[in-house]
Amino acid sequence: MAVHIEKLSEKDKKEILAILQSFWGDSKIVVHNEIIDALSLDGIKAVDNNKISGICHYQISDKECEILTLASLNPGQGIGSALLNEVEGFALYSGCHLICVTTTNDNLNALGFYQKHGYQLTTLYPKQVFISRQLKTEIPEIGYHGIPIRDELRLEKMLK
Ligand SMILES: CC(C)(COP(=O)(O)OP(=O)(O)OC[C@H]1O[C@@H](n2cnc3c(N)ncnc32)[C@H](O)[C@@H]1OP(=O)(O)O)[C@@H](O)C(=O)NCCC(=O)NCCS
Repeated sequence: MAVHIEKLSEKDKKEILAILQSFWGDSKIVVHNEIIDALSLDGIKAVDNNKISGICHYQISDKECEILTLASLNPGQGIGSALLNEVEGFALYSGCHLICVTTTNDNLNALGFYQKHGYQLTTLYPKQVFISRQLKTEIPEIGYHGIPIRDELRLEKMLK
C-alpha cells in the first residue's frame, strides 16, 4: 500500500474535524485536566490514493513531545505505525528526548499498539476520566470492548 505522510494544512480542517468527531465526538481532547482543541495543534496525515487514511496531532514542550491524537481509518494496515514513526522522527529532529501519550483503560488496541512500538506504561491515573467528564460531558461511560472508561494511563518512550 502506497501510504505517504504529509503535514496538515488549513485546507484539511473540515475533513480533520469530521475524523476527530468520529473518534472523539469533537475536536476537543481532554488530558491531564486540560481541554485542548486538536484543530489548534500541529499534525500530520497519512494519505492513500489522495484520501486521508490517518491523522496524528502532537505538541512539543520542554524537549518532550506529546501525542494528542492518533487515528487510523484502516486499522491493521500499518497506517498507525507510519504516523508514529514520522512523529518520533520529527520529535527527535526537534531535540526531544522523550515522546509520550495518554490513553484510557478501555483502549486495549492503543495499549497493545504503543507497547509494541517500544512505549512503556509509566503512570496510572485512577478515575481521572471522572474529572475529564466534568470538562467534556460527552465522554461516554462505556468505551472500547464494552469496558467502562475510568482511568488514564501514560506511556513513554525515550528517543535516541
Ligand atoms: C491504535 C491505532 C492508531 C493503531 O493503528 P493501526 O493502523 O491499526 O496500526 P498498525 O496497522 O500500524 O499496527 C501496528 C502494529 O500494532 C499492532 N497492534 C495493533 N493493534 C493491536 C492490539 N490490539 N494489540 C497488540 N498489537 C496491536 C499490529 O499487530 C501491528 O504490529 P505488526 O506490524 O507487528 O503486525 C488504531 O487502532 C486506532 O486508530 N485506534 C482508534 C483511535 C485511538 O484509540 N488512538 C489511540 C489513542 S491517541
